[in-house]
Amino acid sequence: MTAAMEVPVVVTSVAGLRGFVAALRSQRPEARVGFVPTMGALHDGHASLISTAREHAGIVVVSVFVNPTQFGPGEDFATYPRTLDADIALCARMGADIVFTPPVEEMYPVDQTVTVHAGALGEALEGAHRPGHFDGVATVVTKLFQMVQPDVAVFGQKDAQQLAVLTAMTQQLAIPVEIVAAETVREPDGLAMSSRNRYLTPHERQWALAIPRALEAAQLAARRGVSGMLSAAEHELSATPQVNTSYLVAVDPTSFDSLPADYSGPARVLIAARVGRTRLIDNVLVEVLAPGVAR
Ligand code: PAJ
Repeated sequence: MTAAMEVPVVVTSVAGLRGFVAALRSQRPEARVGFVPTMGALHDGHASLISTAREHAGIVVVSVFVNPTQFGPGEDFATYPRTLDADIALCARMGADIVFTPPVEEMYPVDQTVTVHAGALGEALEGAHRPGHFDGVATVVTKLFQMVQPDVAVFGQKDAQQLAVLTAMTQQLAIPVEIVAAETVREPDGLAMSSRNRYLTPHERQWALAIPRALEAAQLAARRGVSGMLSAAEHELSATPQVNTSYLVAVDPTSFDSLPADYSGPARVLIAARVGRTRLIDNVLVEVLAPGVAR
């Protein structure tokens, strides 16, 4: 009898990754390969993505890679939390088969002169505040897709604009990967889980709750039309001046186009805000009803 293989297998090279994926595929030819790309510092939000991947695929690969090309100068690449042992333990608990954790030189062995441009969708909102960010995300996810060759990949709605960019990318570049969107996982008090929450001081952590409160206010006011809804959210945000709003908008959930004043239909309300030195993003999907529309 052969000894049971350690689960998950942790690989750092592309060749090793391809070898293990091929071995698992040949052992379980009927199984699909599910993929969850992450930057590590894993929390329950990531865990839920891994269990969603499990529901869609018999073989699950998680990548842990803090991707330098999606961070701007002066952003937190150097200080981004790195907790690999705990990440591997979480992947083991969630039943991942392979954890791919390449060093930067493995992902970028040469100067990356060929890149994926995320287009106009990547230049709005987060992209306007973080120039080049979504090109970096689109490029690394394309590379990861080529390395893992998954059938299905799971992304969180917490990063709704990223999800929209990557959905458009897979469609427009005919990448044969099914994109699955997973719900945002929140702390019991409503704060969306994020690897960056650990930067917050206890006071900042409390102030940050204005963000989910504002989204809830938007949801409750969705029957007052786009501007009524946004003023309700704005009212909540302005009650906590320590939260520095960078944007509060309602957009079309697919195109991310802004909405006309008389809009009725599905909308995503997005907030980005700085609390202390930490930039947080969150969003919620709502059903807007224009004022005056019969209800
Ligand atoms: P990271 O921030 O680690 O997030 C990895 C995945 O977890 C993303 O799909 C993100 O939307 C999801 N996620 C984060 N917080 C979540 C929450 N509270 N609930 C549900 N899902 C959540 O996003 C990235 O890494 C990178 O940009 C990456 C796609 C890996 C490319 O480098």
